Amino acid sequence: MGHTAGEDLEGKTVVYGVTGGIAAYKAPLVARGLKALGVDVHAVMTHAALHFVTPLVMRTLTGNEVHVEMFPETMGSSFEIDHISLADRADLFLVAPATADFIAKLACGMADDLLSCSILATRAPVLVCPSMNVNMLQNRVTQENLDRLKQRGFHVLEPTTGELACGWEGAGRLPEPGRIVQEVRMLMSEHDLSGIRVLITSGPTCEDIDPVRFITNRSTGKMGAALVEAACIRGARVKVVSGPVAVDYAPWAEITSVRSAREMLDAVKDCLGEVDVLIMAAAVADYTPHTYSTRKIKKGEKTAHIELTSTPDILATIRPFKESKVFVGFAAETDNLKTYAQDKMVRKGLDMIVANRVGDADSGFASDTNSGVILSPEGVMYDFENMGKDLLAHRILDLVKERL
Ligand code: PMT
Repeated sequence: MGHTAGEDLEGKTVVYGVTGGIAAYKAPLVARGLKALGVDVHAVMTHAALHFVTPLVMRTLTGNEVHVEMFPETMGSSFEIDHISLADRADLFLVAPATADFIAKLACGMADDLLSCSILATRAPVLVCPSMNVNMLQNRVTQENLDRLKQRGFHVLEPTTGELACGWEGAGRLPEPGRIVQEVRMLMSEHDLSGIRVLITSGPTCEDIDPVRFITNRSTGKMGAALVEAACIRGARVKVVSGPVAVDYAPWAEITSVRSAREMLDAVKDCLGEVDVLIMAAAVADYTPHTYSTRKIKKGEKTAHIELTSTPDILATIRPFKESKVFVGFAAETDNLKTYAQDKMVRKGLDMIVANRVGDADSGFASDTNSGVILSPEGVMYDFENMGKDLLAHRILDLVKERL
């Protein structure tokens, strides 16, 4: 099977350019995050960057010599020309932080230091992460330079907004190291789901009783978020319909937030015409209060009764609109996992069901791992035990791909 979570960039090389802005203090963490994905990282630092972070830190974290000089005094025994060998070796060039000055150099095609010269000589994609004072960023000349880079096919990760080291508030912050690593991962991964449109439901639904109370379940959205991330980095166009959760979904996905099962059904129906695959990882409430009290229900008798009615079954409701789409359901079961899941798959007309054990701390709700079995109408497709949800997400997508 194709993708693995975590080590999918094993054997790839990133040439990592660090230029001289205060955000260079984040560079060691970016390098570390890339190494954790199995990337071979070669740092190139400008002279200005040396004021903010030492080559020793970058060398220790990357495990490779750090390149600074265009014309090093000691050339070693190799006859390699640094800027050409770096340019040829790179599967991707990353510049983070990229100062206004360095962006201007790139936009003009200048090549007066090792980093700009290597970028001019490379055929690899280049990801530029600008970071600077808000006024420098918004200056027309910087914006025009960034536009020129984008038009020429450079990838630009926009800076975030907030308090800047110079004391100003506004746009110009370098995104957090994890976000930069995520963008690199997306750009370097094999886009084997390119052109495929995927709708993923995620998280719990909340069924309101009164303005204070509601019925919900233990879903955190972790399984859904893992599916969203995996589908996005493999190039799919991803829509998410999510109940209330605290997890962050991958930044490339389009998110619709809902609260109740009824709202989730409406949102799924709205998107269904535009997707090839539906993955229902959400834990949809099976019951909702028969009536909603607009006033807080006062404490009274020792026992209280809430009349419940069943919610619409989303999968069953949309079944007539399935056509050639691939429908994947989940089954959350404490016992008789296979039998109950098999029954749900048939009843709901699914191509595949991910039956996961719930009730244990390391599987199902809220955990980072999951255990169970994936079934199709033909039988067992895949058994998984204590598997990370990120890796399981890739396995599910591998199986979906076979059905497309
Ligand atoms: O979010 P996490 O904390 O990471 O937890 C992940 C999870 C345990 C919620 C997830 O892995 C999972 O099992 N999701 C499905 C939970 C569930 O509702 O299972 P079910 O067996 O009750 O429903 C079967 C299928 O029908 C599901 O795909 C469900 O989305 C769908 N359904 C359920 C009820 C309903 N009214 N309409 C539906 O379409």
